[in-house]
Amino acid sequence: MNARLDWISQAGGPLHGTLRVPGDKSISHRALMLAALAQGQSRVSGFLEGEDTRATACILQQLGVRIAAPNAGERVIEGVGLHGLRPSAQPLDCGNAGTGMRLLAGLLAGQGFDSTLIGDASLSQRPMRRVIEPLTTLGARIDSSDGRPPLRIHGGMDLHGHAITTAIASAQIKSAILLAGLYAGGVTRVDEPQPTRDYTERMLQAFGWPIEFGPGWASLPGRQSLRACDVRVPGDFSSAAFFIVAATLVPGSELLVQEVGLNPRRIGLIEVLRAMGADIRIEAPRQQDGEPIADLRVRHADLRGIEVPLAHVADMIDEFPILFVAAACAAGVTRVHGAAELRVKESDRIAVMANGLRALGIDAQETPDGALIRGGGLRGGVVDSRGDHRCAMSFAVAGLRADSAVRISDCANVATSFPGFEALARGVGFDLEQVSQAQPA
Ligand code: S3P
Repeated sequence: MNARLDWISQAGGPLHGTLRVPGDKSISHRALMLAALAQGQSRVSGFLEGEDTRATACILQQLGVRIAAPNAGERVIEGVGLHGLRPSAQPLDCGNAGTGMRLLAGLLAGQGFDSTLIGDASLSQRPMRRVIEPLTTLGARIDSSDGRPPLRIHGGMDLHGHAITTAIASAQIKSAILLAGLYAGGVTRVDEPQPTRDYTERMLQAFGWPIEFGPGWASLPGRQSLRACDVRVPGDFSSAAFFIVAATLVPGSELLVQEVGLNPRRIGLIEVLRAMGADIRIEAPRQQDGEPIADLRVRHADLRGIEVPLAHVADMIDEFPILFVAAACAAGVTRVHGAAELRVKESDRIAVMANGLRALGIDAQETPDGALIRGGGLRGGVVDSRGDHRCAMSFAVAGLRADSAVRISDCANVATSFPGFEALARGVGFDLEQVSQAQPA
C-alpha cells in the first residue's frame, strides 16, 4: 500500500512549455502479455513505468518469463511461446490495475495450471462477473468472491471458440475474451454494444496472429502462434488530457504535448472540448507501429457547457474526471449521461468528482449514469480523491482555477498511471506541492 500523500494545488500564472507524457497504459500492458506468449525476443520502448504495468511485468516473471529492463521505459521480453508459462505457487498481485486483472484472467484461463489473481483494496471491490461469464462460455472455470477478486482460475480446461456479444462496451472484456480465444479450438468472435479501443486486435495482428476486426467486432481462430515484435508505445492520451484541460482553463496558457497516441477510440475528449470552445490543434500527425500519433498544441479558450453526445462516451471513458473540471469552469450547464461505468472504475468517479466539485463551490449533481454540472467560480477547499489517480490529477487542475488553495487527499496512486506527474506539471507552471500525511499505525 502506498504511503498517504496529499497535494496542495493553487493558481499560479499561465502554463507554458513543451512536454511528453509517459507511455500508454493500455498498450504497455498488452505489449508485455503478447511478447511473453510470443516466440523470440521482443523489445518494448516507451513502456509506462507505472505501478499498474510493473505489476503485470512482475506477474509474467512469476509465471517464468524473463523480462529485462535495460533502461527506464524499456523492456526486453524473452517470449516463452503460447504454452511456455509455468505455474506460480504465490498469488499474482495486480495491484490497482483492472486492465491487468481482466486481461490476465483471459490469458490464464487457457493455461494447463491453476492461478490466483489478487489486487489492492480498490481492485478487490471491482466487478469481475463481466469477464467470468464470457470466459465460462468459452469453457473456463473461474471462482471469485461473489463476483469480485480474488479470482481463482482453474487450468487444464479445454476452451472452445464461441461468438459472444458483450453487454457492456469494454475493451477489457473484449480483450479477456480474445486472449482466452488464443487457446480455444475454433473461432472466437466478440461483438460490442459500442466500439472500444482496439489495441489488443492491432497488436495481435502485429505479432502475426490471423485476426480480423473492425469497429465493434473482432474474430480470431485459436491455437496459432505469436512471433516476437518490437513495440514503441506512444504517450498516453489519458495522461495528456490533464495538460490539455489545464492549458485550456488557465488564461494566457499555451502547451505543446508531443507524441501522444490518438487511437480513434481514445480521443472523444478532443471532440467534446472543441464543441465546448477549446483551441486544440493536432500537429505533425503520423503513424507509429500501426497507431496514429501527433503533437497537440493547446491554447487557453473560454468554454461553454454542452450535453456530451452518447456516441463519445466510450471514446473518453477515462477522461470524465477531467471533463467534469472543464465543465465546472465553463459557462452554463454540462450534462453527461450513459456513463454508468464511471461508478465502477478505480473509484465511483461520478460521486468522487461531484463531491469534490461541490466542496469547491460548484453546483454538481449526480445522476445514476452521469452528472449535471453548472459552471461557476471555483473556490479553495479540501477534496478527497479516494485514492483514484485520475480524480487526484483532475483536482490538481481544478486548483489552478480556484480562488485559494485546494488540498487534495490520497494522491499516492497517481504513480499507478502517471509517475512524475508532479514534476512535469510544475515544469510547465503548476503551483503544486506535496504534503505527507502521518499514517495511523
Ligand atoms: C482499458 C479499458 C477501459 C479503461 C481502462 C483501460 C483497457 O476500461 O477505462 O483504463 O486497457 O482495455 P473498460 O474496459 O472497463 O471500459
